[in-house]
Amino acid sequence: MREIIAKNLMWIVLAGGLLVISFVGLLLLLRGKRTLGIDVGNAQIKIVELRLGKKPHLLRYAIVPTPPSTIENAVVKNPAELKKALLTALKIGKFTVRRGTTVLTGQNLLLRHIELPPMPQKELRSAIAWQFDQFFQMRLAEMLTDYQVISEGLGKPSSVLLVAMQREPVMVLVDNLRQAGLLVEGVDIEPLAALRAIKLCRQADTERQTVAVVDCGAGTTNISIFSSGLLSSVRVLNIGGSDFTRAVMNYLGVDWSSAEAEKKMNGFRLDSDIATVVIPLRDKLFNEINKTLSYYFAENRGQDLVKVVIMGGGSSMVGLGSQLEKYLYEHQNSLAKHFSVELCNPLMVISHKLPSDKVELLGPTLSVAVGLAIREEHIQ
Ligand SMILES: Nc1ncnc2c1ncn2[C@@H]1O[C@H](COP(=O)(O)OP(=O)(O)OP(=O)(O)O)[C@@H](O)[C@H]1O
Ligand SMILES: [Mg+2]
Repeated sequence: MREIIAKNLMWIVLAGGLLVISFVGLLLLLRGKRTLGIDVGNAQIKIVELRLGKKPHLLRYAIVPTPPSTIENAVVKNPAELKKALLTALKIGKFTVRRGTTVLTGQNLLLRHIELPPMPQKELRSAIAWQFDQFFQMRLAEMLTDYQVISEGLGKPSSVLLVAMQREPVMVLVDNLRQAGLLVEGVDIEPLAALRAIKLCRQADTERQTVAVVDCGAGTTNISIFSSGLLSSVRVLNIGGSDFTRAVMNYLGVDWSSAEAEKKMNGFRLDSDIATVVIPLRDKLFNEINKTLSYYFAENRGQDLVKVVIMGGGSSMVGLGSQLEKYLYEHQNSLAKHFSVELCNPLMVISHKLPSDKVELLGPTLSVAVGLAIREEHIQ
């Protein structure tokens, strides 16, 4: 017996090794793939680690402040400070993987709807490539591009949405993440990450209906409109949570963090001390959101808005959802009157071990990061 073992030792070791590898592989497969969603914002870096599988699970997360003037709308301004903040996030999050998907915000996105005459599929593709040069006044080599054919039919013109962004800021961001030890497997545009978060939350029949997403960030408020699952419009408003904080800071004569605390406590309460400065700014923001929706629905008369979904840290502003809904109902002429304004909270649908009092605030803030980590096939 010993002789047989000795003779075949190499094969036995090999077979044993293979068995262990397949067992570990099977275990990993059953446990689901782990991946990161990396949302580097003007005010906060949000990273989530998800285990993807039948039911996605939030394993770990980190939210750390982005040091002032480190990054402006995904354009890296101070690489050294960004690296420090990213390393802090990795330390806090104790993530078990380093690979993930990061985001490109709406500000850097160029969108254009074009119509092309009827032509065979193959020709359509090269016609589209040529259009990028035409419309974005940038050399193709300087852009990252994508497109969606919105409608096509035999003998009919094709309606195409062109998406482009400058290559350089994306590459710089990816390189900065790499230097902090993060491996970027994909860069997604913010509206599509937001759409996946909404799909995950089943907030509307996004495949058939028209939905508007309002991502309330610190530097900007991004409005994306989706019709039948396709991104139809993006508008970036230069009003964000920081503007409210700045107004409170100047009005009360306090420092930034006290103004933040005051803003988070009172939000849009009409009877608060800060209402004098906060409410006019709120109206400016609501007016811009209203104008964006009016313009879109005036251009797309056959469509009906069913939902306005709000997300991002600023969506936790006390009273925002109900007051925005009221404002839109009162000021909106081109919308059918049966839409609602709702908060997006993916933590209500994915599993996690967070205490319930954290879920309410964290969910909307982590929406984009969760949308980045999740894949279409994991949304049931
Ligand atoms: N409870 C709260 N009430 C009001 N505002 C809040 C609350 N919590 C966070 N915010 C605000 O949310 C903003 C940060 O949100 P978020 O992390 O989504 O922004 P960001 O992604 O860093 O910014 P941007 O999207 O512009 O790059 C800050 O302005 C912060 O003051
Ligand atoms: Mg953001």
